[in-house]
Formats: sequence, structure tokens, C-alpha cells
Amino acid sequence: MSVLDTKNLSPRLLSFITALIISTVNALLSLVFRPEWYVPLIVFAITFIIIYYLYHYTLQRFIYRKIKLIYKFIYQTKATKKEEFFYEKILPQKSIDQVSIDVERWATQKKDEIDLLRANEQFRKEFLSNLAHELRTPIFSIQGYVDTLLGGALEDPAVNKKFLANASRSVERLARLVDDLDEISKLESGRIPIIQETFVMQDLVKEVYEEMQLRAEEKDVTLDLKKGTERPITVNADKPKIRQVLTNLVENAIKYGPEHATVTTGVYEIDGKHVFTEVSDEGPGIGEEHLPRIFERFYRADRSRSRAIGGTGLGLAIVKHIVEAHGQTVNVRSKLGVGSSFGFTLEKAE
Ligand SMILES: Nc1ncnc2c1ncn2[C@@H]1O[C@H](COP(=O)(O)OP(=O)(O)OP(=O)(O)O)[C@@H](O)[C@H]1O
Ligand SMILES: [Mg+2]
Repeated sequence: MSVLDTKNLSPRLLSFITALIISTVNALLSLVFRPEWYVPLIVFAITFIIIYYLYHYTLQRFIYRKIKLIYKFIYQTKATKKEEFFYEKILPQKSIDQVSIDVERWATQKKDEIDLLRANEQFRKEFLSNLAHELRTPIFSIQGYVDTLLGGALEDPAVNKKFLANASRSVERLARLVDDLDEISKLESGRIPIIQETFVMQDLVKEVYEEMQLRAEEKDVTLDLKKGTERPITVNADKPKIRQVLTNLVENAIKYGPEHATVTTGVYEIDGKHVFTEVSDEGPGIGEEHLPRIFERFYRADRSRSRAIGGTGLGLAIVKHIVEAHGQTVNVRSKLGVGSSFGFTLEKAE
């Protein structure tokens, strides 16, 4: 580092250089008035000492007072006893470089906080606009059918029943949306506790399969347990909530998969402490670009198709919430044209 690298001059060096320059000039000037050889020397020495100490002292005071202000500002506190100690004993030991590192660290931390807030804000905006959109669709549809019926279709036996049935389906959809939203908001606020019990995972899978049997038959879909994973495995979890998780996953597997396909659920013991359950289908798969967001509320991989199939896009968000409320994780593997597998872990029961 060159001496004249003014960016990193320490207060000491700065005082030294300043004192040197001023005292040299003074000494030279004194030569003009007194030709004796020792006068410039004395003038030099005296000026140097005075300037050096005065300058150094003022600089220190000035700099540290400013720095103290900065510290006070970034910690936004009134000085407590401990901080008084800090300002008096520790701060003066800190080099300007250290101070600048501290300030930079503070700035990064603030920036992260702001980024997080921004992301949340963005999320909230998206959520509201999605919600409005989801509500609008069934409401418009109901409105349309009711208006048509009132406008005369009511007397037309060819369509009146059908229009009413359509309107009723939209009402159902609205009701389901509200139920799902309610469920999610309860899960998010942590208002519903997880009530652990011990049960055999395969039994629950079979129960869910039975409930979904009708839906499956409509598409001639076979619901199967993965070969080799039939040996009963017991888990510790909230059974009704895990039933909901399985229902949502199996429902998706049937809904998005083709006809005459098979949905397979495997239950695996991993690392002696956890149980991994995975629902696989032979459906269209999900594009890689969608995978990271698939568990978000209202997110749909294939907007038009998914909506035509008729979902609210909350199923997987609920799955994720429930599993995470258990302190466990969900994951998805999928390949376009091959199929998707949704899995989650649970605590194994002893
Ligand atoms: N097994 C699957 N195969 C292909 N795509 C899937 C599968 N499961 C989910 N998806 C995609 O993920 C999206 C989100 O699924 P999610 O279950 O959250 O919502 P949904 O099924 O549209 O509505 P809901 O479950 O609330 O009725 C779906 O719209 C679909 O695009
Ligand atoms: Mg779904």
C-alpha cells in the first residue's frame, strides 16, 4: 500500500503527513526571517509536535463521534450500560476497516429482511388475485345460468333441469373452495393441533382406496399397493389428516392420469425412524419448470387442462401443510409422458 493511498490512511499516518508538510513549510519560511541554522529546526520540531497531536486528537474525536452515531443508528437503541462500555472501550479499538465490515454486514442483513418482506408482499398480492379469479369463475357461471333461467329457460323442459344442475355444480365448487381455504388457513395459523396416534399405513391406504373406488371405476383405473411393500408398517401421525393427504394425492393421480391406468402406492421404511409413502401414477407427468411451485396454493401445472378437469389448486398445498405440521417433508418426482410420484415421510412407530 502506498503511503499516499488516501483511501486507507490511518488517523495516525494522516496526522503525521499533515504535520510533516506544515512544519516543513513553517521551517522553510522561518529561514527567510532568521538565517541561523538552528531556528528552522526548532520551528520544525515545535510545529510538528503541536500539529501532530492536535490533528490526531481532533481526527480521533471527530471520527469516533461519527462512528458512534452510526453504530447507534444501525442498532437503533438507546445506549444501555453494556453499550456504553462498548462505545468507550471496544469501539475505539476497532479499526475503520472493521467498522466498515460491521456496517456492511448490517446492510446485507437489512437487505435480506427487505427481500423477504417483498417476497411476502408479492405472495399476498398473487394470493388475492388468484382467489378473486377462483371465486369469479363459479360465480359467473351461476349468474349465467340463473339469468338464463329467469329469462325464460325456466319454462323450457328441455334445458331447465340441466341448467339448474350446472348451477348447482358451480355452487358445490364454491363451497369446496371455501372449505379448502378454511382448512388451509387453519393449518397455517397452527390452530388445529396434530393429534398423534399409531396406525398401520397400509390399512389407511386401503381405506382411502375404498373411498375412491367409484371415482377410479369411472375411468377404469386400478388402485394398487406396490408389490413387496405389503408388510404392515406402523406410523405415528394424525390419522384423519393423513387420510386427507392420501385422498388428495390419490384423487390427483386418478384425475390427471389416463383411463385404464394403475395408481400404485408404496410404503417404505427408511433409516429405521421414518416411513416413506409414495403415490405413483401413469399420468402425463409435470414439466420440470412447474415442479418447484407445484405445492403452492392455486398453482396449476397446466392451467387450462387442470381447470377443465375441475380443481381449485389447493389440494397439494393442503398436503404440504399437513405433512409439514408433522415436522416431515413432501416431495415429488415426475417425468413428462411417464408419470408422477408424490411422496411424504412420517414418523415410524416403535
Ligand atoms: N398426479 C398428477 N399428475 C399430473 N399433474 C398433477 C398431478 N397432481 C397434481 N398435478 C398438477 O398440479 C396442480 C396442483 O394440484 P392440486 O391438487 O394442488 O390442485 P387441483 O387438483 O387442481 O385442485 P384440487 O386438488 O384443489 O381440487 C394440478 O392442477 C395439476 O396441474
Ligand atoms: Mg388435486
